[in-house]
Amino acid sequence: MIVLYVAPIIIVLNMIIHPSNANSVLWIKYIYLNLELSSEGDEKMNDKIKPKKNLGQATTTVTSGRVVQDYFGFVNPPVYHGSTVLYPTAEAFRAHDAPYVYGSKQTPTSQSLECAIATLERADGCHLTGCGRSAILLALLSVLETGDHLLLIDNVYRPTRNIADNFLKKFGVETTYFDPNIGAGIKNLMRENTKAVFVECPGSQTFEMSDVPAIAAAAKQQGAFTLIDNTWGTPLYFKPFEHGIDISIHAATKYIVGHSDAMLGAVTAVGEAWDAVAQTYDMLRLNAGVDDVYFGQRGIRTMEVRLARQMKSGITIAEWLSERPEVYRVLHPALPSTPGHDIWKRDFTGASSLFSILLHERNETAVNAFLNALNLFGMGASWGGYESLAIPFDPASYRTATKWEHSGSCIRIHIGLENVEDLIDDLEEGFIALNSAASADK
Ligand SMILES: Cc1ncc(COP(=O)(O)O)c(C=O)c1O
Repeated sequence: MIVLYVAPIIIVLNMIIHPSNANSVLWIKYIYLNLELSSEGDEKMNDKIKPKKNLGQATTTVTSGRVVQDYFGFVNPPVYHGSTVLYPTAEAFRAHDAPYVYGSKQTPTSQSLECAIATLERADGCHLTGCGRSAILLALLSVLETGDHLLLIDNVYRPTRNIADNFLKKFGVETTYFDPNIGAGIKNLMRENTKAVFVECPGSQTFEMSDVPAIAAAAKQQGAFTLIDNTWGTPLYFKPFEHGIDISIHAATKYIVGHSDAMLGAVTAVGEAWDAVAQTYDMLRLNAGVDDVYFGQRGIRTMEVRLARQMKSGITIAEWLSERPEVYRVLHPALPSTPGHDIWKRDFTGASSLFSILLHERNETAVNAFLNALNLFGMGASWGGYESLAIPFDPASYRTATKWEHSGSCIRIHIGLENVEDLIDDLEEGFIALNSAASADK
């Protein structure tokens, strides 16, 4: 500390003796930045990056998790490529007494993004993982053990089903699927050994809006944790911990990274659940690669504006689609015609740009003609980037607790950052191709 007070005097003397030395000015700036920081006391990194209260969401997205003083004034944290962390003394090594102890546990880069996500979602903590799927696994392994019972929502991302049915089962965890519209009725499925209830709201293909607060309240009464895959809601538009959730999961690969160029997962949690996540993470270290972490940290700074634009474009296109004669129904929680819209209005502050359409057409050749005629909509599974996508899916093929009634085809649409008019023109071309393929097939 003393150096911070003595150094400016030496530098000022140096400037008087060598007035042309520009470096001195920079050093004074640097030292004052550090003085400001040091005035906060000997806090740990975690305390330093605590959010300022009452900031708007865009401001929080831009500022949280950044400690520019620690990066010599650079706006963004550097990418720390590292495994080994050197300790100053044998005593410190024995006590693991260092802000960072090992590359897989945390680096200043990962900590910056973890802090930003936890701050936005108002969690007690966040850990990053190598992809969304490993985030789901980390969350489940944090709260489940042999002999436990898991309640899993029937509209869940399919690989989550796979983890439950083919992985957790091997370790003696039993799973029961439930209707996304179950609400407080979930209590009837609770068993003495029910340890976790896992929801995805809305479901990322069929977009049912579950009554999350009612489900979480029933789970809490039974002493079970409630987990949510909050990838669609993002840390901006749904605040899970204000609705009774214990653990929230993000495929940060989607809107947080936002550019379809990295794989990343995040698990945030509160209270006892956060302790469990932190302990399990420490054992398993399902950590993300530092460059992908950096892409997430870069992406999150513009997420608020990307999502605002994508939400607006998504709603405009969903409304346009709902007027098309080929479309039986649009499934977009922000549209009043979509079942569950009232829940969305009650619990969410925005909508991301992923939704589905149910077509009257069942003929696969005609639906393929629609998809193949699209030029601006790519056909790819991962969403949340800057580009638009359209893919077919079939909920009837995997649901077990509920029956999927619609007999026509289903298309999932992701709206990116292109001009809405161009996307609508593209879809119009698709419908021309669909109609001509359908009539040729009759
Ligand atoms: C809702 C949802 N959760 C989790 C994931 C998994 O994310 P990742 O692709 O990063 O493993 C996906 C991926 O498509 C998803 O759609």
